[in-house]
Amino acid sequence: MSSSLSHRDTIFVEDGVVLEQRAYPSNQFVLRLHAPKCASKAEPGSFAHLTCDPAVPMRRPLSIMRASAEEGWVEFLYKIVGDGLRHLSERREGDTLSMMGPIGQPFRANKHKRSTVLIGGGVGIPPMVFLAEWLKNDSHPWQPIVFMGSEIPFPFRSRPSTIMVPGIPDGVIGCMPLLDEWGIPSRLASGSGDPGCYDGFVTDLAHEWMRSLDDKALAEVEIFACGPTPMLRATARLARDMDVPCQVSLEEFMACAVGGCAGCVVEVRTPDGPAMKRVCVDGPVFDATTVF
Ligand SMILES: Cc1cc2nc3c(=O)[nH]c(=O)nc-3n(C[C@H](O)[C@H](O)[C@H](O)COP(=O)(O)OP(=O)(O)OC[C@H]3O[C@@H](n4cnc5c(N)ncnc54)[C@H](O)[C@@H]3O)c2cc1C
Ligand code: FES
Repeated sequence: MSSSLSHRDTIFVEDGVVLEQRAYPSNQFVLRLHAPKCASKAEPGSFAHLTCDPAVPMRRPLSIMRASAEEGWVEFLYKIVGDGLRHLSERREGDTLSMMGPIGQPFRANKHKRSTVLIGGGVGIPPMVFLAEWLKNDSHPWQPIVFMGSEIPFPFRSRPSTIMVPGIPDGVIGCMPLLDEWGIPSRLASGSGDPGCYDGFVTDLAHEWMRSLDDKALAEVEIFACGPTPMLRATARLARDMDVPCQVSLEEFMACAVGGCAGCVVEVRTPDGPAMKRVCVDGPVFDATTVF
């Protein structure tokens, strides 16, 4: 059965109602929508395809950052690139917009690898927040740590973490407050020399921490990453060098987002040789070794 058919019962089309639209520096926004069907099936790594405005012909794909099945809402973090998301940022509380979702194969954490390392860069941060919340709520004793990097100001006010993490370079204490409140350690990397942040690439920060682990601790590690392609490449290289498994979420230009148009295909290595896979429904999450 093709993926588009197997998704028939789990991708919903519904009118999302804007509950909240919060603006952050550098044209970043957090949007919360009442969309109970999407919220009921959303998983970390899945995304929704949103109509930004009736005047914008194509939908735009955005990763789901948080979802509450009980309260029926989903939340997104986005940065305006062009016309579509600019229109989306103009939607106000009470407005409705058509959305399809949740779409795509989510991250799947392996219970034999309790030490989950989450790496998010820029607008790749949202699925990492979702995965962190999922790990927190799951009954398995996961031990997540989250590294986030951004070249522009973070869409939250960072603060010194209350959670000590051995192996982190001195002075790197800035965290995402929400994760700290959940009891999940996080550390930030920023190219703009923000206080408390690692001055460099988020993957180098993750590398410094992983290098401090002994063989037993390293054997427990699995990496999950979402962000710009150069960051994902560096993450895949890090995972290969440290010999740990790694799942990455890819971004591709999308038209239908339900597997029908082949507009989003990428070449993937499979045991039977190279194959073309659709990022929308076969991904967006792939094993890093198959795509890099
Ligand atoms: C699975 C997935 C999840 C994503 N999650 C997020 C997220 O959580 N937050 C966020 O800010 N952005 C995310 N993006 C990227 C986001 O979809 C694009 O930045 C957005 O579509 C650009 O639209 P625009 O109207 O601002 O720009 P325009 O330049 O007007 O867009 C023109 C066209 O290009 C496409 N496009 C442009 N850039 C991208 C891109 N990087 N990836 C895919 N299509 C693109 C648009 O969909 C549209 O069809 C995600 C992309 C994918 C594929
Ligand atoms: S966007 Fe149409 S198949 Fe993926």
